[in-house]
Amino acid sequence: MRGRIPDNFIDELLTRVDIVDVIERRVPLKKAGREWTACCPFHNERSPSFYVSPQKQFFHCFGCGAHGSAIKFIMDYDRLEFPDAIEELAQSVGMKVPYEGGRDDKPREDRSDLYSLLDDAASFYQRELDNSAEARAYVDRRGLDDEIVKRFRIGWAPAGFDGVLKALGTSDRRRQLLNEAGMVASNERGNRYDRFRERVMFPILDRRGRVIAFGGRVLSSDQSPKYLNSPETPLFHKGRELFALWQVKQAHQHLTRIMVVEGYMDVIALHQAGLPIAVATLGTATTPEHAEVLFRAAPDVYFCFDGDRAGRQAAWRALESILPRMRDGRQAHFLFLPDGEDPDTLVRKEGKEGFEKRMKESMPMSEYFFEELARDVDVTRIDGRARLAERARPLIAKLPDGAFRDLMAQELERRTGARAVLEPEPGPSRPSASRPANVQRSLVRSAITLLLAQPSLAEEVEPPYPFLRLERPGVGLLAELIDLARARPGINPAVLVEHFMDRPEYPSLQKLMQAEVIGEADMQRVEFLDALAQMQRQVTTQRRDTLIARSREGALDDTEKAELRVLLAARATPAPADGE
Ligand code: UTP
Ligand code: MN
Repeated sequence: MRGRIPDNFIDELLTRVDIVDVIERRVPLKKAGREWTACCPFHNERSPSFYVSPQKQFFHCFGCGAHGSAIKFIMDYDRLEFPDAIEELAQSVGMKVPYEGGRDDKPREDRSDLYSLLDDAASFYQRELDNSAEARAYVDRRGLDDEIVKRFRIGWAPAGFDGVLKALGTSDRRRQLLNEAGMVASNERGNRYDRFRERVMFPILDRRGRVIAFGGRVLSSDQSPKYLNSPETPLFHKGRELFALWQVKQAHQHLTRIMVVEGYMDVIALHQAGLPIAVATLGTATTPEHAEVLFRAAPDVYFCFDGDRAGRQAAWRALESILPRMRDGRQAHFLFLPDGEDPDTLVRKEGKEGFEKRMKESMPMSEYFFEELARDVDVTRIDGRARLAERARPLIAKLPDGAFRDLMAQELERRTGARAVLEPEPGPSRPSASRPANVQRSLVRSAITLLLAQPSLAEEVEPPYPFLRLERPGVGLLAELIDLARARPGINPAVLVEHFMDRPEYPSLQKLMQAEVIGEADMQRVEFLDALAQMQRQVTTQRRDTLIARSREGALDDTEKAELRVLLAARATPAPADGE
């Protein structure tokens, strides 16, 4: 976890950047009185209705309603997530982003030399590809044209043990960096050698287009492993990165759909065939983190799998990962390919049109969900329907509150006749009527549930807990549980809960301990950290709402006004009339 960017840094950053500069670098602006104007980059138009105000440090489009701060512009235009947009802006004015409260409280190191070394490595491999007849022949045989080879910076790692070491490891420091970047490995005697040898190289880029890792494929099927990926490094976390996300974002102003396929060659073949919407996870299942990145990139996410058993298993795991991310407006589709085919072979046979047709005929998540759950049950029998209901309920409960969850519950009811209304959620909190409070209550509850399933998760967070400031029932209890689990490493869930024997929360905790937790330990960890991160964001929202309410009464002092402005800018929401 890279930690949180302190509010005062964002404040400072927004005072240093000029939104006119930021936008002008991307969209040519014309002066119009005190403001600047252009044709809106966020919708199609002939005459300009997009305005940038240097006074208010704000952009606004009267055509499509797009508006916000410099941060919001970067997020929308460069398609970056909040922290990456901050990084981008900070870099443009030479500031370094501090992070706090992450897994370690150390400020982030400057990794620019690591990035540039990896970039050099990609260039080295690209040159080697031109020099190797054998590798070129392979690339041709796979049907890759020059343009796509360039777009993906495909290269070749030559034979021998020190190609990269010799070419790039020209100083102690650089050899050390090669090591950190996972480009070299060492044997028992401590001798270093190139990790990638005689492999076709696929650079893995991060969301800002920087090389962070590689995948390498052997030429012939009798060598193994077929694909070798860089190990996890400070720059490369498999559970977060998606191969070709950068190329996908580069290819679109407005991305409406994105597709996850299994392999490097599948992605590249689809891009070459005119479908630059494909990305791949890197030798891992889809994680909830991937799911969030995917849905932020596009509202419609397609998951493409082989039709065999392994493919079906992978699809179900993907579904489990995305459930908690299925907010209203997001749609997932599942596409199963015929036996023996992968997207690479299929798109070469059927072309773009054929593949598009398959996408159109893919299964919406809701359909796949019920079909898969009902696979081995006989829904004409009462006990079959009961089993279906029993399987579906805990999964539907994972969906965020909203229309989609209600519809899924209704659909379950239709299919089973069983009451699908989700049970009033047990929890350490008092019942509350309002919907938003319920959502927040669920967050606290799900964090507690995950912690009770895996108390070692407590080691992932460090006091002072920023989420403690959230004024919600159960927050204090969560903090107590974390404290206790941290103080007693290895404590098991039952013992943990027994500590609360004399407390009124005891029965609720017991229930939560028995709640079924889905997915692997790793996924649960991500869920847990995510719940805490969401709570932390709600602290900010809560504070903002309080300040807005008080500003309407004209009750803010100057410090509070400044604080509110920062909160609003960070959220890229127009400032209220008060105090301006
Ligand atoms: P596949 O074995 O299905 O290969 O692996 P592919 O993508 O069809 O590759 P080609 O067409 O034979 O070149 C799918 C993905 O699984 C990961 C890679 O990301 C690969 O693209 N993988 C596979 C590995 O990481 N290591 C392996 O040894 C094999
Ligand atoms: Mn293949």
